[in-house]
Amino acid sequence: MTTMTAEATAVAVRLESVTKAYGAVRALDDVTWTFPRGGFTAVMGPSGSGKSTFLHCASGLERPSTGAVRIGGTDLGRLGEAKLTRLRRERIGFVFQAFNLVPSMDVEQNITLPLRLGGTEPDPAWLDEVVRRVGLADRLRHRPAELSGGQQQRAAVARALITRPEVVFADEPTGALDPRTAREVLRLLREAADLTGQTVVLVTHDPLAAATADSVLFLSGGRIVDEVRDPSVAAVMNRWETL
Ligand SMILES: Nc1ncnc2c1ncn2[C@@H]1O[C@H](COP(=O)(O)OP(=O)(O)OP(=O)(O)O)[C@@H](O)[C@H]1O
Ligand SMILES: [Mg+2]
Repeated sequence: MTTMTAEATAVAVRLESVTKAYGAVRALDDVTWTFPRGGFTAVMGPSGSGKSTFLHCASGLERPSTGAVRIGGTDLGRLGEAKLTRLRRERIGFVFQAFNLVPSMDVEQNITLPLRLGGTEPDPAWLDEVVRRVGLADRLRHRPAELSGGQQQRAAVARALITRPEVVFADEPTGALDPRTAREVLRLLREAADLTGQTVVLVTHDPLAAATADSVLFLSGGRIVDEVRDPSVAAVMNRWETL
């Protein structure tokens, strides 16, 4: 194996000097970071510090103004729109805070949508497994409007996992959930890293959630200002207070 390939396998996502400007606002300001494969990273920071922008750029949802993003060795800047869309569909799972489920489709159709968009049939065993892990086996024929908020959020997590993506990005997926449901969603994401070696990046305002990660990044003013590894709740709260 060449060094290049070894590096590509160990690195899930790499941002190099990524800046994202919206007019005069630098939502991301020269961010360089490497997410190791199979790692679970939490991202914290004040409102407006650039967390969502960071996730959107790292996942290929948005293109940086300057700088480069690589996912498993693929330079996203070299991909046209069609190839970028395909990479996102096949290799990335994204859990939006607002769920983004399709109202007219039932739970199973929503979960398997990324596969069907790519022209593949779901593997029945994996679909069963994902549905079991999110605890929605008895809700598959319901539409999102017939589910609780927590069930909708778990359906959104299942949809992000169904393609077995290399990287799962989740933007405050527990923000609207009661503590128990929040713990379930966190467990699912933790299992994605621990059981199937997927890379997970989680934006959260909750120190308890952040402390379940391997590492917590702190953003302020569009920059990464600190990292706390093997975080305890106390360490996360301390760092947060001096941010
Ligand atoms: N599409 C956009 N157009 C203009 N400005 C934007 C856009 N998206 C984000 N911004 C600005 O970029 C900055 C970072 O926004 P971002 O959404 O990344 O913050 P955040 O850390 O996710 O905040 P929150 O915790 O409130 O979700 C903010 O000042 C925001 O107003
Ligand atoms: Mg945000």
